[in-house]
Amino acid sequence: MHISIATWAAALLALPTTITHAAATPSRLAARQSGSVACNNSPELCSRRYNNVTHLGAHNSAFLRDESTNDSIAGNQFFNATVALDSGLRLLQAQVHLEDGGLRLCHSSCSLLDAGPLQDWLKAVNFWMDENPNEVVTVLLVNSDSQPVDSFGAAFDGSGLGKYGYTPDGTGSWPTLAKMINDGKRLVSFVTNIQPSTQYPYVLDEFTYIFETPFEVTSPAGFNCTADRPAKFDSGSAAVAAGMLPFLNHFLYQEIGSGFGIYIPNEKDVATTNSPSTSTAGALGRHAAECKTEWGQQPVFMLVDFFDQGPAIDTADSLNGIGQSATGRDEPIAVAGAVVKRGSAMVALAMSVMACSLLF
Ligand SMILES: *[C@@H]1O[C@H](CO)[C@@H](O)[C@H](O)[C@H]1NC(C)=O
Ligand SMILES: *[C@@H]1O[C@H](CO)[C@@H](O)[C@H](O)[C@H]1NC(C)=O
Ligand SMILES: *[C@@H]1O[C@H](CO)[C@@H](O)[C@H](O)[C@H]1NC(C)=O
Ligand SMILES: *[C@@H]1O[C@H](CO)[C@@H](O)[C@H](O)[C@H]1NC(C)=O
Repeated sequence: MHISIATWAAALLALPTTITHAAATPSRLAARQSGSVACNNSPELCSRRYNNVTHLGAHNSAFLRDESTNDSIAGNQFFNATVALDSGLRLLQAQVHLEDGGLRLCHSSCSLLDAGPLQDWLKAVNFWMDENPNEVVTVLLVNSDSQPVDSFGAAFDGSGLGKYGYTPDGTGSWPTLAKMINDGKRLVSFVTNIQPSTQYPYVLDEFTYIFETPFEVTSPAGFNCTADRPAKFDSGSAAVAAGMLPFLNHFLYQEIGSGFGIYIPNEKDVATTNSPSTSTAGALGRHAAECKTEWGQQPVFMLVDFFDQGPAIDTADSLNGIGQSATGRDEPIAVAGAVVKRGSAMVALAMSVMACSLLF
């Protein structure tokens, strides 16, 4: 099931919208480890297994609502993947399309929002990992055009990131963060819809290892803990019992206009959506707590839009039990008075005639 979108064609998205928010000024260097030994920002996480840590992730992390896209309403994040890593996120998700014979990061289609070649983006992640040697990072790529695993492997290796690729040992058990760091195998890479390759054994088929909750949620009451993909599990608990890593999708779409069926990442309710509150309907804290209870295990991954809001990292810290011990991290950046004026976009929308179905 996919949300069907009439058109938010390139013309609509190219229109300037006005968003006022603080400039991104965090320093990458300031995010370096400061303590003696910390793994993923806390000494307490070193001895924890990879699958016993909650890794907070940026949904569509290459698709920005910032100056570089003229504050595109198709953007899911205010800040890019480097800033996300500096802020403590350890999962980066993005959508990959085949365009002119190469893999590019595009949102639904390359005419809508094109964030450039996959390999360039991976190179920036590699640069960050080189600079931050005590960090375990997960990358999840949506293989929108069913490209072969070797194309992804070539991009990982070409960017330099492949050298960190972790290959599971086949026992079904995951190592501790400290072991992955000591071994220099501290990148976990998942791609959807691929066959394993002997040439790139570290490029893992997502749904062999992970199950996800539903991802097309349009109301705060819509978040639940069901195993949506892959389709073979009756419940989240059944998937957990089978050794699958639980992946919590927690981002909201809103319809713009009415009756057009056009959905954009929901910014207006994000303070609630990303809130650590365990009691507020639609809050990340509550959704995670409900799933933890239902599954008997904390989510291993949580994916959010506008990660700096909430701030979403508070929920991950709470699940990881690290609270005040988090170290070497930039403060999530406050976004003041984020207001999108959609007037001109709505005019373009009304005038648009093309229709297509887009998948987020
Ligand atoms: C996960 O980590 C917690 C905190 O260290 C520990 O109490 C628990 O036994 C671990 N669970 C597993 C399955 O390793
Ligand atoms: C942003 O708007 C400016 C001025 O209209 C335009 O020149 C530029 O190409 C736009 N950039 C993007 C990424 O759409
Ligand atoms: C994020 O932006 C900074 C500043 O422009 C840049 O140095 C960095 O490479 C970018 N990161 C990614 C993943 O594109
Ligand atoms: C969870 O949400 C999905 C998508 O909205 C829905 O199809 C499913 O029935 C819900 N599961 C439960 C147990 O409510």
